[in-house]
Amino acid sequence: MSSPTVRILNDAQGVAEAAADRVIEAATTAVAARGVFNLCTTGGSTPAALYRALREPSRASRMPWAQTQIWFGDDRFVPRADPLSNVAPLDAQLLSASADGAPSPLSPSAVHPWPTSAADAPIAVSTYLAELRGAGVPHTPRGFPIFDLVLIGIGGDGHCLSVFPGSPLALDGAPVAAGVPAPTHIEPHVPRLSFSPGVLASARAVIALAPGAGKAEALAQIFSDATAVVDAPAKAALIPTATWLLDAASAAILPS
Ligand code: 6PG
Repeated sequence: MSSPTVRILNDAQGVAEAAADRVIEAATTAVAARGVFNLCTTGGSTPAALYRALREPSRASRMPWAQTQIWFGDDRFVPRADPLSNVAPLDAQLLSASADGAPSPLSPSAVHPWPTSAADAPIAVSTYLAELRGAGVPHTPRGFPIFDLVLIGIGGDGHCLSVFPGSPLALDGAPVAAGVPAPTHIEPHVPRLSFSPGVLASARAVIALAPGAGKAEALAQIFSDATAVVDAPAKAALIPTATWLLDAASAAILPS
């Protein structure tokens, strides 16, 4: 069934703020029900604005930081301190003092990056999956972690996570996660580590962050035909538990 919620905000800042509000709502619900909020966040350019919005006092005071654990849907196979790392924006926005001197709301131990210092991708993947089990994150019978909320960005080519068009990770029966060779068609050209899209269907909720004119064509294709996920893996987020946050520019040529 393809029935996500779609919201069209004015601009990228509106998307970040709507996403931050949705994160707080999901966190509050998860903590009330299970005592912990397992958030799986994303890379790309959009999350930094979302993290900043979460630090604004009116939101930060409503966020159950002490019960929040943060995971990553994918990462570049680079050291955490590398500016290409998907953890770098989170380190800068959530694990540091704010501009007005407020201390980080999160404990460093609540942030769980992919182990990119591992010798190779298979070791990194098995280590990360073991860390999830060890942290008590529930799993589906197929072995996918059940996150309370997964955030994804959408590539101009229709990718999400580090699952690019044509990737074997986009096929039925794909492993839970795997190393991904460096893409040649999209920057940065570095190898990745990524969950497969089954992590979206397994999650309690998903937010797709897709502002900007550069995503308009991909979104038009995604929303005009939900089949052939392998051609545009972000179609895996066309599910009832997902909310797509677009802006006026990215929604400009969406089918009605
Ligand atoms: C990555 C991402 C990737 C990203 C999209 C959208 O590691 O690059 O996880 O899937 O979310 O490419 O990126 P933007 O938000 O920068 O457009």
